[in-house]
Amino acid sequence: MEGITLRSLFRKKQEGKKITMVSTYDYLSAKLCQQAGIDCILVGDSLGMVFQGLDTTLHVTLEDMIYHTKVVKRGAGDTFLIVDMPFMSYQVSLEEALRNCGRVIKETGANAVKLEGGEEVAELVHRLVNIGIPVVGHVGFTPQSVHALGGYRVVGRLEEEGEKVKRDFKALEEAGAFMVVLESMPRALAKEITETSKAITVGIGAGPHCDGQVLVFYDLVGLVEDIKPKFVRRYLKGAELFRNALKKFREEVEQGLFPSEEESYG
Ligand code: KIV
Repeated sequence: MEGITLRSLFRKKQEGKKITMVSTYDYLSAKLCQQAGIDCILVGDSLGMVFQGLDTTLHVTLEDMIYHTKVVKRGAGDTFLIVDMPFMSYQVSLEEALRNCGRVIKETGANAVKLEGGEEVAELVHRLVNIGIPVVGHVGFTPQSVHALGGYRVVGRLEEEGEKVKRDFKALEEAGAFMVVLESMPRALAKEITETSKAITVGIGAGPHCDGQVLVFYDLVGLVEDIKPKFVRRYLKGAELFRNALKKFREEVEQGLFPSEEESYG
Protein backbone atom coordinates (compact mmCIF):
# COMPACT_ATOMS: atom_id res chain seq x y z
CA MET A 1 0.00 0.00 0.00
CA GLU A 2 1.18 3.52 -0.88
CA GLY A 3 0.31 5.01 2.53
CA ILE A 4 -0.86 8.57 2.97
CA THR A 5 1.21 11.09 1.01
CA LEU A 6 0.89 14.67 -0.16
CA ARG A 7 -0.27 13.27 -3.51
CA SER A 8 -2.97 11.08 -2.00
CA LEU A 9 -4.20 13.95 0.18
CA PHE A 10 -4.49 16.26 -2.86
CA ARG A 11 -6.22 13.47 -4.77
CA LYS A 12 -8.82 13.32 -2.00
CA LYS A 13 -9.37 17.09 -2.20
CA GLN A 14 -9.74 16.94 -5.98
CA GLU A 15 -12.25 14.08 -5.70
CA GLY A 16 -14.22 15.97 -3.05
CA LYS A 17 -13.47 13.31 -0.40
CA LYS A 18 -13.12 14.62 3.14
CA ILE A 19 -9.75 14.42 4.90
CA THR A 20 -9.50 13.38 8.55
CA MET A 21 -6.90 14.50 11.07
CA VAL A 22 -6.52 13.73 14.76
CA SER A 23 -4.23 15.59 17.13
CA THR A 24 -2.56 13.24 19.59
CA TYR A 25 0.58 12.74 21.63
CA ASP A 26 1.14 9.06 22.48
CA TYR A 27 1.91 5.69 20.91
CA LEU A 28 -1.34 3.85 21.70
CA SER A 29 -3.72 6.54 20.49
CA ALA A 30 -1.62 6.98 17.34
CA LYS A 31 -1.94 3.24 16.70
CA LEU A 32 -5.73 3.47 17.12
CA CYS A 33 -5.86 6.38 14.64
CA GLN A 34 -3.87 4.36 12.12
CA GLN A 35 -6.11 1.31 12.59
CA ALA A 36 -9.21 3.49 12.16
CA GLY A 37 -7.97 4.81 8.80
CA ILE A 38 -7.40 8.43 9.88
CA ASP A 39 -5.45 10.27 7.13
CA CYS A 40 -3.25 12.57 9.21
CA ILE A 41 -1.99 12.63 12.77
CA LEU A 42 -0.97 15.99 14.17
CA VAL A 43 1.28 16.05 17.21
CA GLY A 44 -0.29 19.30 18.35
CA ASP A 45 1.16 21.67 20.91
CA SER A 46 -2.28 21.39 22.54
CA LEU A 47 -0.37 18.66 24.39
CA GLY A 48 0.66 21.46 26.77
CA MET A 49 -2.95 21.82 27.91
CA VAL A 50 -4.38 18.34 27.35
CA PHE A 51 -1.39 16.14 28.28
CA GLN A 52 0.66 18.36 30.59
CA GLY A 53 -2.27 20.15 32.29
CA LEU A 54 -0.99 23.68 31.60
CA ASP A 55 -3.23 26.70 30.98
CA THR A 56 -1.99 27.54 27.47
CA THR A 57 0.18 26.01 24.73
CA LEU A 58 2.87 28.65 25.26
CA HIS A 59 5.06 26.63 27.64
CA VAL A 60 5.60 23.68 25.30
CA THR A 61 9.23 23.23 24.25
CA LEU A 62 10.91 21.94 21.11
CA GLU A 63 12.20 18.99 23.15
CA ASP A 64 8.60 18.17 24.24
CA MET A 65 7.48 18.15 20.60
CA ILE A 66 10.40 15.99 19.46
CA TYR A 67 9.83 13.50 22.29
CA HIS A 68 6.08 13.15 21.64
CA THR A 69 6.48 12.97 17.86
CA LYS A 70 9.00 10.12 18.14
CA VAL A 71 6.55 8.30 20.41
CA VAL A 72 3.59 8.90 18.06
CA LYS A 73 5.62 7.89 15.00
CA ARG A 74 6.00 4.35 16.43
CA GLY A 75 2.22 3.91 16.41
CA ALA A 76 1.32 6.00 13.37
CA GLY A 77 2.42 3.53 10.67
CA ASP A 78 1.82 5.05 7.25
CA THR A 79 -0.47 7.80 8.54
CA PHE A 80 0.69 11.27 7.39
CA LEU A 81 2.45 12.78 10.41
CA ILE A 82 2.54 16.52 11.11
CA VAL A 83 4.36 18.26 13.99
CA ASP A 84 3.37 21.55 15.55
CA MET A 85 6.34 23.89 15.96
CA PRO A 86 6.04 25.29 19.49
CA PHE A 87 5.90 28.96 20.49
CA MET A 88 9.26 30.75 20.08
CA SER A 89 10.84 27.94 18.07
CA TYR A 90 10.25 29.80 14.77
CA GLN A 91 9.67 33.46 15.69
CA VAL A 92 13.17 34.68 16.65
CA SER A 93 14.96 34.51 13.29
CA LEU A 94 14.63 32.83 9.94
CA GLU A 95 17.87 30.97 10.49
CA GLU A 96 16.85 29.59 13.90
CA ALA A 97 13.42 28.66 12.57
CA LEU A 98 14.89 26.75 9.62
CA ARG A 99 17.31 24.93 11.92
CA ASN A 100 14.53 23.98 14.37
CA CYS A 101 12.12 22.80 11.66
CA GLY A 102 14.92 20.80 10.02
CA ARG A 103 15.84 19.24 13.36
CA VAL A 104 12.24 18.19 13.99
CA ILE A 105 11.94 16.52 10.59
CA LYS A 106 15.38 14.84 10.90
CA GLU A 107 14.90 13.51 14.43
CA THR A 108 11.25 12.46 14.42
CA GLY A 109 10.46 11.02 10.99
CA ALA A 110 7.45 13.34 10.64
CA ASN A 111 6.24 14.30 7.15
CA ALA A 112 5.50 18.00 7.71
CA VAL A 113 5.69 20.87 10.18
CA LYS A 114 2.83 23.15 11.23
CA LEU A 115 3.27 26.86 11.99
CA GLU A 116 0.74 29.36 13.32
CA GLY A 117 0.25 32.72 11.60
CA GLY A 118 -0.07 34.12 8.10
CA GLU A 119 1.75 37.00 6.45
CA GLU A 120 4.41 37.10 9.18
CA VAL A 121 5.52 33.48 8.57
CA ALA A 122 5.15 33.49 4.76
CA GLU A 123 8.87 33.94 4.07
CA LEU A 124 9.71 31.06 6.41
CA VAL A 125 7.09 28.85 4.73
CA HIS A 126 8.61 29.68 1.33
CA ARG A 127 12.13 28.77 2.53
CA LEU A 128 10.96 25.52 4.13
CA VAL A 129 9.07 24.45 1.03
CA ASN A 130 12.16 25.25 -1.08
CA ILE A 131 14.33 22.92 1.00
CA GLY A 132 11.74 20.15 0.76
CA ILE A 133 9.88 20.43 4.05
CA PRO A 134 6.09 20.35 3.57
CA VAL A 135 4.33 23.02 5.64
CA VAL A 136 0.88 23.20 7.20
CA GLY A 137 -0.33 26.70 8.12
CA HIS A 138 -2.80 27.66 10.84
CA VAL A 139 -5.02 30.77 10.72
CA GLY A 140 -8.13 32.13 12.43
CA PHE A 141 -7.80 31.56 16.15
CA THR A 142 -4.13 30.77 16.74
CA PRO A 143 -3.59 29.48 20.31
CA GLN A 144 0.01 30.70 20.51
CA SER A 145 -1.38 34.27 20.23
CA VAL A 146 -4.06 33.72 22.89
CA HIS A 147 -3.00 36.77 24.91
CA ALA A 148 -2.84 39.09 21.90
CA LEU A 149 -6.25 37.84 20.71
CA GLY A 150 -7.77 38.49 24.13
CA GLY A 151 -8.65 34.90 25.07
CA TYR A 152 -10.22 31.87 23.40
CA ARG A 153 -12.75 33.15 20.86
CA VAL A 154 -14.07 33.07 17.32
CA VAL A 155 -11.87 35.10 14.96
CA GLY A 156 -13.15 36.77 11.77
CA ARG A 157 -16.69 37.85 12.69
CA LEU A 158 -15.82 41.51 12.18
CA GLU A 159 -15.23 42.41 8.54
CA GLU A 160 -11.74 43.75 9.18
CA GLU A 161 -10.72 40.59 11.03
CA GLY A 162 -12.23 38.37 8.31
CA GLU A 163 -10.22 40.25 5.65
CA LYS A 164 -7.04 39.72 7.70
CA VAL A 165 -7.75 35.96 7.92
CA LYS A 166 -8.19 35.85 4.12
CA ARG A 167 -4.93 37.78 3.56
CA ASP A 168 -3.09 35.43 5.93
CA PHE A 169 -4.47 32.39 4.16
CA LYS A 170 -3.49 33.76 0.74
CA ALA A 171 0.03 34.55 1.97
CA LEU A 172 0.45 30.96 3.19
CA GLU A 173 -0.94 29.51 0.00
CA GLU A 174 1.33 31.67 -2.17
CA ALA A 175 4.33 30.73 -0.03
CA GLY A 176 3.61 27.06 -0.74
CA ALA A 177 1.83 25.72 2.36
CA PHE A 178 0.08 22.55 1.13
CA MET A 179 -2.49 22.54 3.94
CA VAL A 180 -3.90 25.16 6.31
CA VAL A 181 -5.79 24.59 9.56
CA LEU A 182 -8.72 27.00 9.92
CA GLU A 183 -9.56 27.35 13.62
CA SER A 184 -12.60 28.94 15.31
CA MET A 185 -14.00 31.12 12.55
CA PRO A 186 -17.46 31.66 11.04
CA ARG A 187 -18.37 28.83 8.68
CA ALA A 188 -19.13 31.29 5.84
CA LEU A 189 -15.57 32.58 6.00
CA ALA A 190 -14.10 29.04 5.97
CA LYS A 191 -16.39 28.19 3.03
CA GLU A 192 -15.29 31.23 1.04
CA ILE A 193 -11.61 30.43 1.67
CA THR A 194 -12.01 26.73 0.81
CA GLU A 195 -13.96 27.35 -2.41
CA THR A 196 -11.04 29.12 -4.10
CA SER A 197 -8.20 27.41 -2.25
CA LYS A 198 -5.48 25.35 -3.89
CA ALA A 199 -4.19 24.33 -0.46
CA ILE A 200 -6.10 21.74 1.57
CA THR A 201 -8.19 23.35 4.33
CA VAL A 202 -8.72 21.46 7.59
CA GLY A 203 -11.23 22.93 9.99
CA ILE A 204 -11.64 22.92 13.75
CA GLY A 205 -14.56 25.08 14.77
CA ALA A 206 -14.76 26.33 11.17
CA GLY A 207 -17.90 24.56 9.99
CA PRO A 208 -18.52 21.75 7.51
CA HIS A 209 -17.21 23.23 4.25
CA CYS A 210 -13.47 22.67 4.78
CA ASP A 211 -11.67 19.92 2.88
CA GLY A 212 -11.14 18.08 6.14
CA GLN A 213 -11.73 18.16 9.89
CA VAL A 214 -9.44 17.82 12.89
CA LEU A 215 -10.24 17.04 16.53
CA VAL A 216 -8.01 16.34 19.52
CA PHE A 217 -8.04 12.61 20.36
CA TYR A 218 -8.77 13.15 24.07
CA ASP A 219 -11.73 15.44 23.24
CA LEU A 220 -13.05 13.02 20.62
CA VAL A 221 -13.09 10.05 23.01
CA GLY A 222 -14.50 12.15 25.86
CA LEU A 223 -11.52 11.98 28.19
CA VAL A 224 -11.48 15.77 28.53
CA GLU A 225 -14.46 16.65 30.74
CA ASP A 226 -13.65 20.09 32.15
CA ILE A 227 -14.08 22.05 28.94
CA LYS A 228 -16.16 21.37 25.85
CA PRO A 229 -15.88 23.97 23.10
CA LYS A 230 -18.96 24.20 20.82
CA PHE A 231 -17.10 22.49 17.96
CA VAL A 232 -16.10 19.35 19.89
CA ARG A 233 -18.12 16.18 19.37
CA ARG A 234 -17.50 13.47 21.95
CA TYR A 235 -17.83 10.07 20.28
CA LEU A 236 -17.40 8.24 23.58
CA LYS A 237 -17.94 8.91 27.27
CA GLY A 238 -14.28 8.05 27.78
CA ALA A 239 -13.75 9.62 31.20
CA GLU A 240 -16.82 7.86 32.63
CA LEU A 241 -15.77 4.49 31.21
CA PHE A 242 -12.20 4.83 32.51
CA ARG A 243 -13.36 6.04 35.96
CA ASN A 244 -15.79 3.12 36.27
CA ALA A 245 -13.04 0.65 35.34
CA LEU A 246 -10.69 2.17 37.92
CA LYS A 247 -13.43 2.08 40.63
CA LYS A 248 -14.12 -1.56 39.84
CA PHE A 249 -10.40 -2.38 40.08
CA ARG A 250 -10.18 -0.62 43.47
CA GLU A 251 -13.30 -2.38 44.79
CA GLU A 252 -12.17 -5.81 43.59
CA VAL A 253 -8.70 -5.42 45.13
CA GLU A 254 -10.25 -4.22 48.39
CA GLN A 255 -12.67 -7.18 48.41
CA GLY A 256 -9.93 -9.71 47.60
CA LEU A 257 -11.54 -10.52 44.23
CA PHE A 258 -8.49 -9.50 42.17
CA PRO A 259 -6.28 -11.25 41.25
CA SER A 260 -7.99 -14.64 40.87
CA GLU A 261 -6.30 -18.06 40.74
CA GLU A 262 -6.17 -17.79 36.90
CA GLU A 263 -4.50 -14.42 37.13
CA SER A 264 -1.78 -15.73 39.47
CA TYR A 265 1.35 -17.81 38.74
CA GLY A 266 1.73 -21.35 40.15
O1 KIV B 1 -2.40 21.82 18.87
C1 KIV B 1 -3.33 21.24 18.26
O2 KIV B 1 -3.75 20.12 18.63
C2 KIV B 1 -3.89 21.92 17.10
C3 KIV B 1 -5.14 21.38 16.50
C4 KIV B 1 -6.27 21.49 17.43
C5 KIV B 1 -5.41 21.95 15.17
O3 KIV B 1 -3.34 22.88 16.65
